[in-house]
Amino acid sequence: MSLENETLQLFLNNKVQISKDALGLVLEQEKPLEAAELLLKNINQDIITILPKHIEDNLNKPTESTLSILENFEKNKPIRGVSDLSTFFNNRYTHFRKLLSGRLTNPSSVNSMTKMVKEKVSTIGLVCNKRITAKGNILFELEDPTGTVKIVASGKEVRPQAETLVMDEAIGVAGTMGDGIMFADEIMWPDVPVVAEPKKLKHESYAIFLSDTHIGSKKFMEKEFKRFLSWLNGEVGGKEQQELVSKIKYCFLAGDIVDGIGIYPRQDEELSIANIEEQYQEAANYFSQVPNHIKTILSPGNHDFIRLGQPQPPLDPEVAEPLYKLKNIELVGNPATIKIAEHDNGGLDVLMYHGVSLDSLITADPTLKDGYTKPELVMKSLLIRRHLSPPYDTGLIASGQDQMVIRTVPDIFHAGHVHSNGNSMYRGINIINSGTWQGQTAFQKLCGHEPTPAILPLLNLQTRELNLVNFNFTDQ
Ligand SMILES: [Fe+2]
Ligand SMILES: [Fe+2]
Repeated sequence: MSLENETLQLFLNNKVQISKDALGLVLEQEKPLEAAELLLKNINQDIITILPKHIEDNLNKPTESTLSILENFEKNKPIRGVSDLSTFFNNRYTHFRKLLSGRLTNPSSVNSMTKMVKEKVSTIGLVCNKRITAKGNILFELEDPTGTVKIVASGKEVRPQAETLVMDEAIGVAGTMGDGIMFADEIMWPDVPVVAEPKKLKHESYAIFLSDTHIGSKKFMEKEFKRFLSWLNGEVGGKEQQELVSKIKYCFLAGDIVDGIGIYPRQDEELSIANIEEQYQEAANYFSQVPNHIKTILSPGNHDFIRLGQPQPPLDPEVAEPLYKLKNIELVGNPATIKIAEHDNGGLDVLMYHGVSLDSLITADPTLKDGYTKPELVMKSLLIRRHLSPPYDTGLIASGQDQMVIRTVPDIFHAGHVHSNGNSMYRGINIINSGTWQGQTAFQKLCGHEPTPAILPLLNLQTRELNLVNFNFTDQ
């Protein structure tokens, strides 16, 4: 039987028809029979006749890993003066006013509201002050381009809401206007939309998430990291594991790739590599062992050799040259939004952010006090705030557009920085904190912080189920 007839027979045996053109496309594949089997496995059961348009989606591209960068910080001008700062905050205000105004009844500007004594009012602005009054209520101020208003939150429901407010975040408030002060009934955050179902890829593929490898530190867990690379290359584990790792298409690295130099006092005593270029060379040696079918996306963190102010541009090509030379690696800024697998059901959007603001949120919002062991709670609060770093004093670079605003609602939100794994699902978004590959440092010991090193989040992009693969164990 000719190859053409054999291939056609395979479809007929499976009670599926195929058009002549579509069959031609299958025969063009390197291994037509294998391609036909893959097509039969992937194709929607409701399709009676396979047409050329079904081939692309179900055969060719799903085996590839593709990505495009949606939002990324490349370069920014330094702050020039007060006008830059006011442009920055105006930009933030305007964005959130649009987002929130539909959810409030006729929101007023702060200035016009002050004349509406005893009336029901609502407004939108940025939080610019917060304190607890002698009576135990929360008093805060809200600012918009027309001025500021004092707001008191004392009710059973609104007081706990107000307690969580952090500086410079955008909110909407509804309540009653008093004489020069507003009495709040409800506070609204921008938040992400509710979804019925998380978006899923049609084909089985996986993504892995890492951060805070701190290569160059004496505490970098080399043995565990090598164990991870062996697993990724299918050298360990049974057939099932090998099959699974062959389906990993994306590897996200969210900052603190190296330990850096001079990041904290007496850091040199904790370094195994005391030269920044050598640290990146070592990092490249490791990441060159990531199989070629996996696309790696790398963004920087506060230990990397780049300015500390957020947003951060991608790593400097001169200092991190060995990483730039690697195949299949994309160096992006911090934060960055990446679309993966666009060919498959429109793909999924991944928001990467190293996570420096997690420190300030944990301190500022009392409901997030356990954030160092449950970073997923802090990350969820950033999604609700639709901003990656609301307080300006978290080291933001204010110039032009506020690039820390979460404009694109992601499918996956990936961060690191706190060295603790944490994950959850919120309104169809996988929240993933990828922990660390560094053991406990002297500083963390002093603070009583126990990291969770060498635990790898593995996300099934078809089911959106997350699993943790633990590489931190003692060999038997
Ligand atoms: Fe780190
Ligand atoms: Fe960090």
